[in-house]
Order: sequence, then structure tokens, then C-alpha cells
Amino acid sequence: MHDVHREITRWLEPLGATVRVDAVGNVRAFYNANETPASTVLIGSHLDTVPNAGAFDGTLGVVLAIACLEALEGEKLPYAIEVVGFSEEEGVRFAVPFIGSRALVGGVDDHLLGAEDARGISVRKAIEDFGLDPCKVGQAAMYPETCAYLEFHIEQGPVLEKLGLPLAAVEAIAGQSRWELNFLGRANHAGTTPMDLRFDAVAAAAEWITLVEQFAKTTPGVVATVGSVETKPGATNIIAGEARLSLDVRHADDRDRKRAVESLIQQAKQVAERRGLEVRSTERLSQRAVAMDAFLTSQIEEAIRQTGCTPRRMISGAGHDAMILAEKIPAAMIFLRTPGGISHDPAESVVVGDVAKAIECGVHLLHQLASAPTFHSRTCRA
Ligand code: HGY
Ligand code: MN
Ligand code: MN
Repeated sequence: MHDVHREITRWLEPLGATVRVDAVGNVRAFYNANETPASTVLIGSHLDTVPNAGAFDGTLGVVLAIACLEALEGEKLPYAIEVVGFSEEEGVRFAVPFIGSRALVGGVDDHLLGAEDARGISVRKAIEDFGLDPCKVGQAAMYPETCAYLEFHIEQGPVLEKLGLPLAAVEAIAGQSRWELNFLGRANHAGTTPMDLRFDAVAAAAEWITLVEQFAKTTPGVVATVGSVETKPGATNIIAGEARLSLDVRHADDRDRKRAVESLIQQAKQVAERRGLEVRSTERLSQRAVAMDAFLTSQIEEAIRQTGCTPRRMISGAGHDAMILAEKIPAAMIFLRTPGGISHDPAESVVVGDVAKAIECGVHLLHQLASAPTFHSRTCRA
């Protein structure tokens, strides 16, 4: 990440932006307005990603923000622009997502700084190891005159490709729940233990995982995923005594999402009880569904129209930093088509022509906001 920070600083400084790294490792680049005092528009996305990832999730949004600055060719607008590259959106290391963007809305507290990774290293220690001061996290808050957040991001799904469209305006981001479940049975010898005397944690987990899939397939609007399975002791000739699973449940409606989670946890308890095992479940995240700002979304649709493309609105099944910023300021997102709908995988890609359209759309959008007087008189909500 130090290398990434050096590289994008090298791109940003020639454009007249002043670049810093804040106390949670977000890159923050400030591009002045043509007048003071002025409001500030925040544009960016996340720089972290997932294991075995593609090259565009998050990063493309930061690069497109820089490309929009570059396309202004030194022009100053009646509002300042802050480009942000968030440090930790995915939640891969600490099982808690959106750490970088939470710092901008004052959401990084001692509890979150105490969250630990698989090696027992806390967020606080990781910040220190990166060469930053966790005591200064409060200084990462967004500037009070920030009045909007814009994020370009790949769709990460098949919708735009199916419609033959390069860009879309995101009207809402689905809520998501992340849980950890532990099936606790009894480890024993794989060769000497009769099948009817086993308390096999992996067999119990496997039965429940198929129930998760079955439930999601038959419940409208729900997607549910068991993405990681850890077994202990994890040897060929030992019946596993423990199976630790992740559960990711998404839905556009929060009540339906919570009902889905309750049902799946209940089914895990029934499977464990039937098999004479115990199951423990821990909630890691409950992120509510978030609507994007209506004014900004309509401006994005107009900017897409200005590029000669048909504007389209859609819901995001993936979570994004925009849902955190939306707690404090109007937030909106522009999606780019994802060929094959593949993401969180090295096959993730974009169409170069769509990226060009996105830059064109971004510049139209910045100019539209510059000429919308009511827009830049707003400031972030207290
Ligand atoms: O998992 C997600 O929703 C996103 O990739 N952070
Ligand atoms: Mn992602
Ligand atoms: Mn992302």
C-alpha cells in the first residue's frame, strides 16, 4: 500500500493537488476551488481488495477520480475536490469492512481499533506498523464543508452487460449481514469411530451450507453465501471437531435481510441439535441498505445522457464506501459495465471504451454541479 500511495501521489501532484495520508491510511488529495470559502466534493473509492482479486474493484474508482481531475486541465470549479483512496473497505483482514471510510464520518472508535486479525494484530497495531498514529484518527474526519461524495465503481455483476450499457446510476445499495458460525462437535479417529457414533463438525456444516443455498434460492431478493470454511484439526484421518464458517446475507430490504439471517441461524441450531453438536454464531456486521442522494443521482443520469449513452438506474448488491459516507453527506455512485459479470477474481475486467465514457461522464457531472447554485451551498450534515 506504501507503493500504491507513492504511485498515485506521483499522478496527483502534477495536477495541482496536495496529497496526504490520514491516520487510517486513506490517501487524501485536495484540489482547490476557484473561490474561497468553498464547499468540497469528495470523489474516490477503496484501494484495498480481496484475496486473488481482480484489478478494478475499488482501484478503478480512485483512478477515475484522478482522471477527472486530469481532464479538467487545471480548470478550477466553484467548489474544491478531494480525491480519496480508502484504506480498508473489504473487511478481509479484520472481518470489519469500511474502516477507511468510517474514519471520515467519525466511526472509528476504540472498539473498532481493538478488532484483531487472524494473527491477533489489532487495527491499532496495524496502523502503527504502517507508520501512522492511531491517536490521530479523529483528524481523518471529512472537512466540514464537504457537501457530496461521488464514487465510480465496476458493477461487479451481469446487469449492464446484459443491457448492453456502459454506465448506470446507482439508486440504492443493498444491506448486508456478515456472521461467523462455529459448529462444535468432537474430534476423533477417522478409522476407528463408527459412523453412528460421530459428532462430525464438517458434516454438520456441510448439511447447513446446502440449506443456506436452498433457502436463498427460494426466498425472493436474498443472496446468501458461505465464503470461508475452516476446519480443525484439519487432517485427513481426523473427524473434525470444529468447523468455522462465514455467512454473508444481502437484501435490498433490511427487514427481509434480518428475517433471512434469523431463519438461517435457526436452521444451523436445528442441524446441530439433530446431530448432537453445538453451534455458536457471532454477528460481525449489520449494514443497513442505503438509498443514494436523489439530486446527485439525477445529475449522474443527465451526465450519462450527455455522453450519448442511455441512462439507467440500478441497485448495488455489493457494499461500497458510499453507504458509509451517506450517513453524513449526500452520496451517489456511477457503475461501469463488468464483462462476464465476474468480480473478486483475476478475470475481473472493464471495457476501455466504457472507462473513457466514465471520464467524459465525470467531467460533465462536475460541470453540472458547478452550475447548480443550490448544490454547492450545502455542507455536510452535523
Ligand atoms: O463485499 C462487498 O460487498 C464489497 O466487495 N465490499
Ligand atoms: Mn469488493
Ligand atoms: Mn469495491
